[in-house]
Amino acid sequence: MAAPWKGLILAGGTGSRLYPLTHAVNKHLLPVYDKPMIYYPLTTLMLAGLRDFVIVSSPDSLSQIKALLGDGSQWGLSFAYAAQDRPGGIAEGFRVAANELAGHRVALILGDNIFYGDGLSKRVQQATQLETGATIFGYEVADPSAFGVVEVDETGKAVSLEEKPRKPKSSHAVPGLYFYDESVLDMAWDLKPSARGELEITDINRAYMERGDLNVMLIGRGIAWLDGGTHADLFEASQFIKVVEERTGLKVACPEEIAYRMQFIDRAQFAELVDESPKTDYQRYLKRLLKSL
Ligand code: DAU
Repeated sequence: MAAPWKGLILAGGTGSRLYPLTHAVNKHLLPVYDKPMIYYPLTTLMLAGLRDFVIVSSPDSLSQIKALLGDGSQWGLSFAYAAQDRPGGIAEGFRVAANELAGHRVALILGDNIFYGDGLSKRVQQATQLETGATIFGYEVADPSAFGVVEVDETGKAVSLEEKPRKPKSSHAVPGLYFYDESVLDMAWDLKPSARGELEITDINRAYMERGDLNVMLIGRGIAWLDGGTHADLFEASQFIKVVEERTGLKVACPEEIAYRMQFIDRAQFAELVDESPKTDYQRYLKRLLKSL
């Protein structure tokens, strides 16, 4: 039987591009319209069916993040926390959380990546069918040079992977959402720092590619992929969520709702969450759901 899944959410880094917003507050706690940024990646993995998570952040930020998310039981989830002393790269997250991740397949999501759209749940649930190897995604962007870039051949097989190339070989950026079998931990321990001194996630993906074990799922325009890396990104992501929520009357990335829809909590637990929420628009939304679902 394949190993169980664990979600790894990276919420460290310096957030230096968002200074001074991030001087005293961790980037992943900043608002994306009406919710903290970290709700978005968390709920993406909840939609994949994951319930067991490790959240990695800097020692200073962990207490703020714990104050927001707790132990996860309120949403039928389980959260463990691990401290990354300094931002040594995305792949360092595996080392920092190694004790928690041992013996698990790992779904890694970057804490500033936001996904929204029709077919998202289906895609991520499909990725969890993976038993060996790794699955990454490819997303067409106007300027791939700011991202990991994957080049695929006509059969859909990855033929090259580069981190922030000056001259990208394709227009497919690799979003910060990755599914790995349990061998990823050994790979992370074997990794050497890149020229910029970081343990690169692209090097892990390349190792899977070189052993013929990397699947690439191309996601089309039906799914929006945004991140909150710069002031403009954060502002645009907030506007995007506002437009979608106002138009549909439904919230994006509401953990209470997703926990209930995914049956991680039952009706009585959902009703209790609604009762305990402060009397705000957020509670009114949850009350409306309780009546209609
Ligand atoms: O957003 C997707 C891109 O994310 C990928 O296409 C790239 O291949 C990948 O390297 C990454 O690029 P970024 O330049 O966006 O990475 P950044 O350093 O901004 O960190 C992304 C997230 O990971 C952010 O939420 C902070 C967190 N992080 C980052 C580092 C380097 C950590 O928690 N610890 C770290 O050491």
